[in-house]
Amino acid sequence: MKQRPHAPPLRGSLPPEGAGPALGRPGGGPTGPHAPPLRGSPANPLPATLADHAERARQTLAPDVLAYFDGGAADEITLRENEQGWQRLRLCTRVLRPLAGGHTRVSLLGRTLAHPILVAPMAYQRLAHPHGELATALACAAQGAGLVLSTQATAPLEEVARLTLDEAGRGPLWFQLYLLPDRDFMRGLVQRAEAAGYEALVLTVDAPVQGVRDRERRSGHRRPAQFQAVNLIGRKLPPRMDLQAGQSALFDDLLVHAPTWEDVAWLRSITRLPVLLKGITHPDDARLALEHGAAGVIVSNHGGRTLDTQPPTAELLPAVVQAIGGRMPVLVDGGIRRGTDVLKAMALGASAVLVGRPVIHGLANAGAQGVAHVLRLLRDELEIAMALSGCRTLEQAGTSLTKGARLEAGRP
Ligand SMILES: Cc1cc2nc3c(=O)[nH]c(=O)nc-3n(C[C@H](O)[C@H](O)[C@H](O)COP(=O)(O)O)c2cc1C
Repeated sequence: MKQRPHAPPLRGSLPPEGAGPALGRPGGGPTGPHAPPLRGSPANPLPATLADHAERARQTLAPDVLAYFDGGAADEITLRENEQGWQRLRLCTRVLRPLAGGHTRVSLLGRTLAHPILVAPMAYQRLAHPHGELATALACAAQGAGLVLSTQATAPLEEVARLTLDEAGRGPLWFQLYLLPDRDFMRGLVQRAEAAGYEALVLTVDAPVQGVRDRERRSGHRRPAQFQAVNLIGRKLPPRMDLQAGQSALFDDLLVHAPTWEDVAWLRSITRLPVLLKGITHPDDARLALEHGAAGVIVSNHGGRTLDTQPPTAELLPAVVQAIGGRMPVLVDGGIRRGTDVLKAMALGASAVLVGRPVIHGLANAGAQGVAHVLRLLRDELEIAMALSGCRTLEQAGTSLTKGARLEAGRP
């Protein structure tokens, strides 16, 4: 694995955003003397798009680390189709509408957000850059983006919260959980998140077991011992079962503790925080989430990392939105790479979107500054897409693009 020089600790926040007209104006100066500069030159221009960030990250990260971050399950059909799902949708636009005073603001769980973009929970971010989740948190706060910290973060959840909470104009700060068999530990973890100031819990329900990650296995990726899920240190693993002939190591051992709907009720009973369920893809599960007191759902196929050939989330979203009928927020992630993708998701009824891998690419390319750049590009593109489709607000996007003018799924 390629190693980076040791980077100094992050202190304070990013300088405020510039007001220049250029797309993706970076959030300020470099994050530290050792962070790679996000500088353009004729030979190596500044990434213009999230795809450019992805391309640059491919040259930056070691092949096995890249396989971990960029890879999906099995033949990666869902991984590819997540992006294509948004691309296939066609925007039908309106003209000559008043646009002055337009904005990207949305309300979510009782808060007004500057825009509907959150960073999805992603494990082991120090593998991408020495500042890891701390850099991501700073960039989110500076760009007004929400952050969902992975339970498998490589930074203490308290440190991430401290870097985030003081920033005026920050987005929501949520903590992601997997249901752990060690319930005492889990209760303690939830209490830590509450005490640190996290505003909601996100329970990931689509990965009782890891998917078949062929790209990762082919690459021979093994996480070096220094990259640990530091917030999970001290949890007890359940004793292995004594399997009888004919029993399955998966169903009769590993999955004995797999979470069920009853565990959602248990989690709700031990926290005062709202609980969102991440990984809902079926309208009936969306209704069950509502019945079990979830505060919201995230339509997600885990970025194509769990079960390959699940449909892309752009196709799954409308049925879940319909099943929920406005009774709680429906968020979506998977393959969002353009401002137009965000607009389409909002037009289909999402309350907000989460972005995964592009954030890792920005992080690998330039630490906090790279993540800020990715978030800024996406938001700038969203504003332009709104203006060019005649939407002054994202609420208008819903009615004008889906009903007034049609948001059509066109097959290329
Ligand atoms: C490297 C990596 C690690 C991830 N780790 C987690 C995790 O710890 N918890 C979780 O709920 N989802 C995890 N996810 C899934 C993301 O939260 C999200 O659903 C997905 O990345 C969105 O798709 P996108 O990458 O195409 O934007 C991870 C995704 C990636 C790429």
